[in-house]
Amino acid sequence: MIFAPKKDCPPSFELELSAFDKSLSHRSVIFSFLTLGCSEVENFLISQDTLATLEIAKKLGAKIELCPQTLKITPPQKLQTGMKLQCQNSGTSMRLYAGLLSAKEGEFSFDGDESLRKRPMQRIKEPLELMGASFSSSFAPFVLKGNCNLKGVAYDSPVASAQVKSAFILASLQAKSSSCYVERELSRDHTERFLSFLGAEITQKEQELHIKPLKSPLPHYRLRIPNDPSSAIFFIIACLISQNRELKICNVLLNPTRIYALEVLKQMGARIAYEVTRRDFEVVGDIVVSSSELEGVEISSSIASLIDEIPALCIAFACAKGKSKISGARELRFKESDRIASVVKNLEKLGIEVREFDDGLEIVGGEFKSAKLESYEDHRIAMSFALVGVRSEVEVEGMECVGVSFPHYVELLKNFVEVRA
Ligand code: S3P
Repeated sequence: MIFAPKKDCPPSFELELSAFDKSLSHRSVIFSFLTLGCSEVENFLISQDTLATLEIAKKLGAKIELCPQTLKITPPQKLQTGMKLQCQNSGTSMRLYAGLLSAKEGEFSFDGDESLRKRPMQRIKEPLELMGASFSSSFAPFVLKGNCNLKGVAYDSPVASAQVKSAFILASLQAKSSSCYVERELSRDHTERFLSFLGAEITQKEQELHIKPLKSPLPHYRLRIPNDPSSAIFFIIACLISQNRELKICNVLLNPTRIYALEVLKQMGARIAYEVTRRDFEVVGDIVVSSSELEGVEISSSIASLIDEIPALCIAFACAKGKSKISGARELRFKESDRIASVVKNLEKLGIEVREFDDGLEIVGGEFKSAKLESYEDHRIAMSFALVGVRSEVEVEGMECVGVSFPHYVELLKNFVEVRA
């Protein structure tokens, strides 16, 4: 697919994003297994990843009704065991369901697509086995043997990962005694916010998260999911690197563990303002962005709070004046593709000066030359490099993978670029 600069764009407009938060959508389904009764979720994201989570819920015996914008989910009275659980491309489905099911008596076969089969599951295997579950392998496909007598443990996680933390919390809530989880850097905290809001006893004391087993099932819930900041970021950057444009995106999740990328862009000189419009267990608001002259920046901490935005940020770095550097981001190598390598290879093809490190990269801003790029079958790589089209014509192969998180991405991007098949 070819993306090229577009003339005659309206100078100011509001984008109807309708790209609802992926992390909250997965959680809205998986957490219902800890409740009784029918939960209702408005603005559930319909994408390949979240549909994989729904399919698994059905296989486990949940009743699912998906009306256009609202999902109704009723957990099963008796969980189905022995089923094959196909997580497709979704690490969140695999790791969170493994946490949930590790406390259920029975065997569960997990599998994923080629990319997910390469992603490390040792990071959930280790803590969940300490609690009493067992895994046949550290990579998918694997069989998880659940144990209804899990014991609470103290676990110091070597990675700042919300997926690992969430798996641990889901297991701990069903264990026989209390647990404690330590992470070196705070990863996204939706699981602890959501479940505490429902009444689970999860308390944060500095770096330690203390989790008490549930005494009874949690109540069912009604939830309205806001837009995903990790999807909004593409249009925020498209606007920043355009000429004389202003953009508003409403109803975006503004959880502080998710919007550090906006702070980094502000440090680069980006004109971005946000206003909080709703505050329950999550913060939601509107974002206004204006085209800006960007300058290089260095980041080496709070990486977990912008991990999914790094590929898009790299496009902003390539359009900025001077040098930008990210370090401490080795986790990028374990995503849907090795995102450090994918970004470096594509930027090199575009003629941008870039240096690769084991845990990050350095980019010197410059002019893009026209190139044919690859998505590496990674949705965030595909969406990020399509942004190059705002400045200069570019071809990105394998755009289909955007369906993993954002099926209507290319349609919305037409507000900023010309698109040709
Ligand atoms: C997610 C956590 C992050 C993120 C992923 C979604 C989640 O992964 O990259 O897209 O919903 O918990 P890690 O927690 O493994 O870094």
